[in-house]
Amino acid sequence: MNEKILKLMERGTKILGSKYAIMGGAMTWISESNLTSALSNAGLFGVLASGAMDGDLLKKEIVATQSKTDKNFGVNIITMNPKLNDLVDVCGERKVSHVILAGGIPEKSTIEKIHGYGIQVIAFAPSQVIARRLFKQGIDALVIEGSEAGGHVGPLSTMILIQDILLNMKEYPIFVAGGILRGEMVAALLKLGAAGCQLGTVFACCKESTAHENFKKAYFRASGRNAILPVQLDKKFNIAPVRALENIGMDEFVQKQREVLQKFEKGEVRAENGRLSLEHFWAGSLRRAVQEGDTDRGSLMSGQIVELIKEERSIQEIIDQILREAESVLD
Ligand SMILES: Cc1cc2nc3c(=O)[nH]c(=O)nc-3n(C[C@H](O)[C@H](O)[C@H](O)COP(=O)(O)O)c2cc1C
Repeated sequence: MNEKILKLMERGTKILGSKYAIMGGAMTWISESNLTSALSNAGLFGVLASGAMDGDLLKKEIVATQSKTDKNFGVNIITMNPKLNDLVDVCGERKVSHVILAGGIPEKSTIEKIHGYGIQVIAFAPSQVIARRLFKQGIDALVIEGSEAGGHVGPLSTMILIQDILLNMKEYPIFVAGGILRGEMVAALLKLGAAGCQLGTVFACCKESTAHENFKKAYFRASGRNAILPVQLDKKFNIAPVRALENIGMDEFVQKQREVLQKFEKGEVRAENGRLSLEHFWAGSLRRAVQEGDTDRGSLMSGQIVELIKEERSIQEIIDQILREAESVLD
């Protein structure tokens, strides 16, 4: 059956060690051991989110994931996590196969430290210059993620990143993320030279996701136009844009931003600390939505692809449809 699409995926599956070159992108509070192992057991590549965890917590989560799957999965580490080195050590100790570095451009020394454990490194790049630099520094694969995606996003859309990075760097293994769901799209990207794709939003509300029922229902009700970016109040104090469904929580974020901005202007808080407090705000409100089901004040991080997601499906149903659609456009 799926011979043609599997052939096109070979480059990516060799890197990931999975059956399909489809990564289930890490989602803080959502990509825990159950979802990650379920993705890997279904032949995809699950990625555990370490968010703001410390080493002990991450170790517990990796052990739990390893008890539920013997397949490869990745660990997503946010580069600005002050416990970065401890987290890398835990991944080394637990013999994780891949670390995905997100939330900033990683240092060469971090890439080398991870390689020292025999672990493959995947990173994100927002531009061709940075993509080339990261490969020069030794990363094994790259993810380019367009601003259609859910969660923290860069300024450029997937369409622009494809033309600027993917098409100019075909010799390197690049996975594409942001606004992808249909198999025809996956097939087209593989034909353009992508090693594979990374999907997030669709797995946040799949059957195996342990996210609260209210959280999932909010996705099924939403349309793509509800997945918005918060307003930036002042150019001098730039905030990391985070795409989420509009709700009271999004308004509260703007209010929080106003408070931090005022403190920054009065010299009461430094820019980095101000931004960090906004990050904590996001992490806390995402947890409220995912675990407590507070869809009014919690953060409903979501990509624009929510437009196409109308019901709860299992990972198997999602991947079966992707493969079917992909095969239908391959000759
Ligand atoms: C609720 C949510 C939380 C996310 N958290 C993270 C994260 O902790 N680390 C990360 O690298 N990406 C995070 N992402 C991005 C996803 O891993 C993935 O790249 C993105 O969702 C792909 O685009 P899509 O939403 O259009 O499928 C998050 C996305 C969502 C929807």
